[in-house]
Amino acid sequence: MDKIKVVLYGVGEVGGRIARHLLEKEGLEIVGAIDMAKDKIGKDLGDVLGLGKRLGVRISDNPDKLLSEAKPDIAIHATGSFLKQVYPQIEACIKHGVNVVSTCEELSYPYVSDSQIAQKLDKLAETHKVTVLGTGINPGFLMDTLAITLTGLCQKVEKIKVTRLMNAATRRVPFQKKIGAGLTVDEFKEKIKKGHISGHVGLAQSISMIADALIWKLEKIIIDQVQPIIAAKPVSSEAIKVEKGKVAGLKQVARGIKNGKEVIALDFQAYIGAEEEYDAVDIDGIPPIHEKISPCVHGDYGTVAIIANSIPKVINAPCGLVTMKDLPIPSATPEDMRKYITERIK
Ligand SMILES: NC(=O)c1ccc[n+]([C@@H]2O[C@H](COP(=O)([O-])OP(=O)(O)OC[C@H]3O[C@@H](n4cnc5c(N)ncnc54)[C@H](OP(=O)(O)O)[C@@H]3O)[C@@H](O)[C@H]2O)c1
Repeated sequence: MDKIKVVLYGVGEVGGRIARHLLEKEGLEIVGAIDMAKDKIGKDLGDVLGLGKRLGVRISDNPDKLLSEAKPDIAIHATGSFLKQVYPQIEACIKHGVNVVSTCEELSYPYVSDSQIAQKLDKLAETHKVTVLGTGINPGFLMDTLAITLTGLCQKVEKIKVTRLMNAATRRVPFQKKIGAGLTVDEFKEKIKKGHISGHVGLAQSISMIADALIWKLEKIIIDQVQPIIAAKPVSSEAIKVEKGKVAGLKQVARGIKNGKEVIALDFQAYIGAEEEYDAVDIDGIPPIHEKISPCVHGDYGTVAIIANSIPKVINAPCGLVTMKDLPIPSATPEDMRKYITERIK
């Protein structure tokens, strides 16, 4: 079997990290790269990634041309968080017969983001015989797929609480900026008002994925207003210094309500200087389950891994728009990537 041909759609922080990881893996080759950033267009991917060697792959700003010439099996898409914004990009991949694994948060459970777009993507993917998946560490795994998997051990489930608490100091700089680290409280509030800080995107998607897996009909999903976490003492990352009294990051809570009761609660906290980092799933049920990963899984590494590890799952999956709850359980791909392919492109 030929190597799996991959196109990178978006070579920013995350796309770049995924690219470096894929270059180390056997059984696949990067046959093209797309990005709209002016400082990347026309450059060799190796230069953009800072590898100190050329790869013979030029960054293109023309998706149609690139996809029709490179004829990839799959696109690794990492350009944005919102479904409406990325829709034309995903549509272009599908129309060129290219499977998609995307980091777009709203694509992780698109039926709650915009059901019309989701249905359109599903139909289009079926027509063109490809599979589309939105995934990542969160949404995509820690606050949804993992919790769903743990309910498999329960005879009864009353309530599921998932907590992700991380020290943002070791995360990528765009993430630290995204959570408002270093701002004054007024600047933070202003940015929230203007939509420049959106908080964590994906809580509604994670809640819906969990509820749908259990066939729980929720009356409503409540996403609380994003709250700043204020530094009680000076804290810093390599890139950002946070003075005492300024914003170190943010906290956001979301709830799924069924029969007037809170049955799913997600608590997301990310800030520079967090002393204990962990991911926890607490299930009130029979038996009760209290699972804690400490320190929490490093989001940047975890995202890269789950995106790469999803490549064969997506290629093997039935055509259409799929979510993590529709695929076989996630697993690593330490061997030649082609060994994990069972169908379709073999
Ligand atoms: N689900 C998860 O767990 C998870 C985890 C990590 C990241 N994410 C999401 O993944 C996305 C990528 O993250 P990032 O940190 O890599 O962001 P980033 O550094 O801003 O990279 C995005 C790249 O895509 C380019 N781009 C934007 N629009 C494009 C278009 N229409 N066509 C081609 N390229 C385009 C950008 O160019 P410009 O600079 O010119 O805009 C930039 O180079 C974000 O939305 C992030 O929230 C999700």
